[in-house]
Amino acid sequence: MIKRFFIGAFCAASLLSCTQKAPEAEVTLKDYFGDKFLIGVAVNVDQSWERDTLGAAIVKKHFNSVVAENCMKSEEIHPTPFTWNWGDADQFVKFGEENGMTVIGHCLIWHSQCSPWFFTDENGKQVSAEVLKARMRDHITAILTRYRGRIKGYDVVNEAILDDGSYRNSKFYEILGEEFIPWAFKCAHEADPDAELYYNDYSMALPGKREGVVKLVKSLKAQGLRIDAVGMQSHMGMEHPDFVEYEKTIQALIDAGVEVAITELDMDAIPTVSFGASVEDEAAYSAQMNPYPEALPDSVSQIWNDRMKQVFSIYEKYQDHICRVTVWGVQDGDSWKNDWPMKGRTNYPLLFDRNYEMKPFLKDIINKK
Ligand code: G3I
Repeated sequence: MIKRFFIGAFCAASLLSCTQKAPEAEVTLKDYFGDKFLIGVAVNVDQSWERDTLGAAIVKKHFNSVVAENCMKSEEIHPTPFTWNWGDADQFVKFGEENGMTVIGHCLIWHSQCSPWFFTDENGKQVSAEVLKARMRDHITAILTRYRGRIKGYDVVNEAILDDGSYRNSKFYEILGEEFIPWAFKCAHEADPDAELYYNDYSMALPGKREGVVKLVKSLKAQGLRIDAVGMQSHMGMEHPDFVEYEKTIQALIDAGVEVAITELDMDAIPTVSFGASVEDEAAYSAQMNPYPEALPDSVSQIWNDRMKQVFSIYEKYQDHICRVTVWGVQDGDSWKNDWPMKGRTNYPLLFDRNYEMKPFLKDIINKK
């Protein structure tokens, strides 16, 4: 009797399971974008050390590339001539490797967050061109030697060209002129000949910036230097960039013979205070510019989602030439744009919201709606 009961129960369960539709396996971002381009994210130290367990879980589930938001910048990793803080950078690389991700190094030479000792000697006097070149070489060589074969590519120089295409008058430029950029690329290639090398900048849809960066790419190539891609940071807002100009830049870079990396994607959902992404920009708090401190109204969210859907359609259009799309943070609460250039705002610029929920436009894309 008992045997008959169990056989009956087994058949009933099997019948039920056949009629019940198995829940659809969730499509992840790296599943969907995998054969188009790398889908990456900037991680902070809480995520790479997995103290932010929810953020780390999203990174591991959805992304196949990671970049360090801050821990590899010179002021963090090399704060004095004789001090190296390798801990966070080592953990960042380990986190990426352990999770089978492409690891990107950001950034070797940048006027901002740069350790002041690069430019002054022990007496506080400005160093010579030769001394600065030696310090740049030592900084770059130490990092690329340590992570040789583990970091796929580096933002070698960050934000050296202004919106009108001229050179930013940074200390690097003041002491070395235009030469600091080819020098940085030369040092990087010698330190790790297999590493990909990138130039990275924001506001790349502006015609002047586009022409300046294309000119730089051609100059580096003419000197026989390796440059694999240009990073279009892509810090966007609800009114910028003009997508026609944005696509012109993508095409101009393709024509210049480099790949395009989308390196720091985010999009303000609240009014843009500063265009570009100059960390030096600051603005006094104004409640008027922080209209949605509690939650984004559906009407605004719809506009933001529609605009982001347009952005990703551009990326899919140029997928043969876009090597990577990286977003600048995991969820809205992580974004630098909550405090830049105005501290204390609530912004909604990333692919996941504060509940770690994927934004609707992205669900539509990966579920092909
Ligand atoms: O880690 C310290 C912490 O110990 C201290 O208590 C706190 C108090 O101010 O500061 C913390 O450091 C901050 C760091 O982010 C980590 O949160 C720095 O002050 C702050 O300046 C730094 O901001 C970063 C900014 O670059 C400047 O490095 C942003 O997180 C980062 O998103 C932003 O990223 C840049 C890219 O590297 C280059 N492109 C533009 C982009 C946006 O500015």
